[in-house]
Amino acid sequence: MDKIITEDGSESFFNEEFQESYHSKSGAVEEAREKYANAIKAHEVNSPIIFDMFFGLGYNTAAVIDEIRENNNDSFIEIHCFENDENILKKVLEVEPGFKSYKLIKEFVKRFLDSDQRQFTKDNINFLMYFGDATRLIRDVQDEANFVLFDPFSPKKHPAMWIFPFLKDVNNKMVKGGILATYSCAKEVRKNLELVGFTVKDGPIVGRNSPGTIAVKTE
Ligand SMILES: C[S@@+](CC[C@H](N)C(=O)[O-])C[C@H]1O[C@@H](n2cnc3c(N)ncnc32)[C@H](O)[C@@H]1O
Repeated sequence: MDKIITEDGSESFFNEEFQESYHSKSGAVEEAREKYANAIKAHEVNSPIIFDMFFGLGYNTAAVIDEIRENNNDSFIEIHCFENDENILKKVLEVEPGFKSYKLIKEFVKRFLDSDQRQFTKDNINFLMYFGDATRLIRDVQDEANFVLFDPFSPKKHPAMWIFPFLKDVNNKMVKGGILATYSCAKEVRKNLELVGFTVKDGPIVGRNSPGTIAVKTE
């Protein structure tokens, strides 16, 4: 797996199977902060339940934890992390993206890799690892999410992640009014999100890129 230094100086990788990088070339950390953490403002919800779909290097989770704590929300946070590739999880132990919470992310991932520990609680945060195919595992989740960080490979490279029935299964596991954030603003993606019960609007524009999408569960 080749390392990439993105334009904000943060590290990402290139995935050979999907022929795509894990993050926007314009900035991996910037994308996590702007398109996910600052877009959803998770600090506004007390004791939020967050689904990180898909975890990768855990940048989106780290950015969201930082945003919550920086806004003086000390409440309990529950994070369900979906991932199916140990190779990218191993890279978590090598990168230094500069998030305040990344030490915690490393500890959670190390315990999972070393001893298959899938649940880890520290600093009032409960992490759960759903390791395997998320399209199957989502159906076993008991909790309902206030927020979903929806970050698969692109619709072109990984179309199964962006269509019914998976999107419907994700929608079913969210509270009414719950917010899903994604980097994609593709017409087809937005149409599918609307079809399964979301109302969609533009997310933040980062750099010279197009906006992401914020989808609110209305049905
Ligand atoms: C664009 S990357 C996510 C980047 C991540 N959010 C981060 O901050 O590093 C997409 C991720 O989806 C994972 N993935 C692909 N297919 C999956 C599946 N069926 N179930 C669970 N994870 C999957 C890949 O291994 C990859 O880590």
